[in-house]
Amino acid sequence: MTAVADEFAVRTEDLGKVYGELPAVVGLDLSVPRGTTFGFLGPNGAGKTTTISMLCTLLRPTVGRAFVAGHDVVAEPHSVRERIGLVFQETTLDLDLTAEEGLRFHAELFGIPWRVSRPKVAALLELVDLTGSRDRPVREFSGGMRRRLEIARGLLTTPQVLFLDEPTTGLDPQTRTVIWEHLHELREQHGITLFLTTHHLEEAEHCDRIAIMDGGQVEVEGSPAELKAEVGHDTVVLRTGDDAAAVRVIAERFGLDAVSGPDGVRLRVADGAAFVPAFCAEAGVPVLSATVVPPSLDDVFLHHTGRTIRAERSGPLTVNDVGRRR
Ligand SMILES: Nc1ncnc2c1ncn2[C@@H]1O[C@H](COP(=O)(O)OP(=O)(O)OP(=O)(O)O)[C@@H](O)[C@H]1O
Ligand SMILES: [Mg+2]
Repeated sequence: MTAVADEFAVRTEDLGKVYGELPAVVGLDLSVPRGTTFGFLGPNGAGKTTTISMLCTLLRPTVGRAFVAGHDVVAEPHSVRERIGLVFQETTLDLDLTAEEGLRFHAELFGIPWRVSRPKVAALLELVDLTGSRDRPVREFSGGMRRRLEIARGLLTTPQVLFLDEPTTGLDPQTRTVIWEHLHELREQHGITLFLTTHHLEEAEHCDRIAIMDGGQVEVEGSPAELKAEVGHDTVVLRTGDDAAAVRVIAERFGLDAVSGPDGVRLRVADGAAFVPAFCAEAGVPVLSATVVPPSLDDVFLHHTGRTIRAERSGPLTVNDVGRRR
């Protein structure tokens, strides 16, 4: 273990995974400081689960190195496993057990006797709001309750790093909010590092830093605010008394391209808040309303990948694609 590796909850050097001919993860260099929330954002097939699987010692990297909580995932897998919790993308709960039995069983798998794990199981059930349902079989739980139980299970071994693969996919917005409240609380109270994957842009907003991944590669990394600032423009939507005239004025006086559509005149401008009063003074047409929309993470994704996160890859990535993209 080196001092450098130790400051970071997760550190990777040129980490990669090839499945047969398919490079699923390519040249990953990450440094995630302890106690922070890091999000891996990318569409289906981007390589998010593959990365988490390598970091959690479930999948051997093809190339490169990775350290989790200061330990090498290949050379010291047991030391890594002792220090992590993992919430899988697919549910892995035993539906026939009650919530409490499931947690007890999981603790026993890690060699923690019931007399030791009992108070912890009670505290975790309380934390995720499932105390009242502890004796019910998981089969009867809703999706949100199951997800909360899985998060509790991931915390049983007091992890230094909690990996969450799409923690709130398929949950309603209210449950998603509750789960995020729990996760923030955990981070505050226990200083754990959260490493999550998501293709929800709203979820990425909870992260201190995010990496946008597409086709196995990190396209860009930074805080959500930094990445949005980098996009460098706001979107302005104007409703006017004469949209065609407004488009002309915007081109002639401001040198900007605007398009007229059903929701009004739309354009991109570096500082929307400064543009609107300047336009109103110059327009010569009545301005009925003006909306300034700052860049979203969707704009960031579009800016770096040329498409929106909602659009999936048209086919699998091949070795040749990676060669071209690099
Ligand atoms: N066991 C495997 N064998 C072969 N190819 C695989 C295997 N697991 C994943 N892949 C491929 O690797 C690529 C990355 O998959 P991965 O599951 O890491 O993506 P993901 O970002 O987690 O996607 P999702 O958002 O759908 O969960 C995909 O093209 C996938 O088909
Ligand atoms: Mg996945």
